[in-house]
Amino acid sequence: MQSLNVRQALHSDSALPEVEVSGWVRTRRDSKTFSFIEINDGSCLASLQAIIDVGVPGSENVSQMGTGASVRVRGELVASPGKGQSWELKATEVELIGATDESFPLQKKGHSLEYLREIAHLRPRSNLFGAVFRTRSRISHAIHSFFQEREFFHVHTPIITGSDCEGAGEMFRVTTLPVGADGKDTPKDAEDFFRKPTYLTVSGQLEGETFATALGKIYTFGPTFRAENSNTSRHAAEFWMVEPEVAFCDLAGDMDLAEEFLRHLVTAALDTCSEDLGLFNKFVEKGLIERLEKLASQKFARIPYREAVEIVNKSGKKFDYPVEFGLNLQSEHERYLTEEHVGGPAIVFDYPDAIKPFYMRANDDGETVAAMDVLVPGVGEIIGGSQREERPDVLAARMAKHNLTEGGDYDWYADLRKFGTVPHAGFGLGFERILMYLTGVQNIRDVIPFPRTPGNAGF
Ligand code: 4AD
Ligand code: MG
Repeated sequence: MQSLNVRQALHSDSALPEVEVSGWVRTRRDSKTFSFIEINDGSCLASLQAIIDVGVPGSENVSQMGTGASVRVRGELVASPGKGQSWELKATEVELIGATDESFPLQKKGHSLEYLREIAHLRPRSNLFGAVFRTRSRISHAIHSFFQEREFFHVHTPIITGSDCEGAGEMFRVTTLPVGADGKDTPKDAEDFFRKPTYLTVSGQLEGETFATALGKIYTFGPTFRAENSNTSRHAAEFWMVEPEVAFCDLAGDMDLAEEFLRHLVTAALDTCSEDLGLFNKFVEKGLIERLEKLASQKFARIPYREAVEIVNKSGKKFDYPVEFGLNLQSEHERYLTEEHVGGPAIVFDYPDAIKPFYMRANDDGETVAAMDVLVPGVGEIIGGSQREERPDVLAARMAKHNLTEGGDYDWYADLRKFGTVPHAGFGLGFERILMYLTGVQNIRDVIPFPRTPGNAGF
């Protein structure tokens, strides 16, 4: 008896006399002499049809094999006369493994995404979420392949950290101190577990730099935490970030790497997720596959920030927020640039020093730093990166400006410049943001298994 998953059964090269398939019932139809059940086991979008004649062992339990029940079917894999599938399973034996009842919420199709979010423990069993999370896994694999094939080393940077990489102050505190007992002195940091304030990491970059200046080319891929109280469809409090860091690399090389990387991921999605992309293309975003195919061959526009501001201001369009040199581009500006001005992805670079973190390399103009953001239609910023300041004196001045004084928590970071400094650069890709881009799914809560957002950390 050969045990197959549904995908293997549906892609079989030939009829097979004796196979066994296990999964969950999607639908059942009964007639007097036999029942049809559609079995899905999550291995692919499609389900396998099994025909269960009345009288085969186990068929007496068929009435309990409703939508959501788990079953095992043994039998013969035969050519299907029905349209849309090549093989079906003619049962010689059927076993009810786990029963279900009418309260199973996924009896019917067409539930709203909002409702499905409330049943996060069951939504992976729906077609859409099955497709999203298979895609998530395959793209995760493609990320590792991309870097491993190019001789990058994977580094696991810490999740608990004492440094605030982005300097934005949006960090979750990690502590074992009791929470403000009334009337008592507030415990001191020195009494805390790590004897100092610690946080969940907002980026693995700074630690990544220590390994790039030792192993040459590295990447991190891990969970990242930001206590931004912005309840948008593109922000999560816990998300996954991919951060390559490359020694002997400047901003132009960084942009080239980002572009090659994104193109690789789009190609991987088209090659390895075609069945699931078909679903997204039909039900989530019409024209998705065409959009991805276009990106796979398109060069990204590269626009200096200063020029981007001019383009936005000359557009003649009304925006909610103003933009001028020194202000952040808002998502409405980013959308205008990619969706209308360029009609595709754009890399905006050389941002004003004043709106960027201390570690970015100062440009000769004295006003801007070697930063870049990759913007894509529909999602906006998907990658943020920069060349890092490698000159010890310039870094020291920048750190002083950001109140990161000598003898403090960042001396190790300055040391990387003291001992064999090199130009180096890297970027961070928001894993959920690229998944939104690849699937057309518009809310970040629907591309991460268990979303954490303001006011929401449960099921
Ligand atoms: O632009 P960010 O803040 O860059 C950094 O953290 C750098 N240290 C990266 C580096 O150079 N190594 O974040 C990088 C990316 C963003 O472009 C966005 O895609 C994603 O991370 N991101 C978020 N994704 C989901 N929810 C949030 N709250 C996010 N904040 C950033
Ligand atoms: Mg950014």
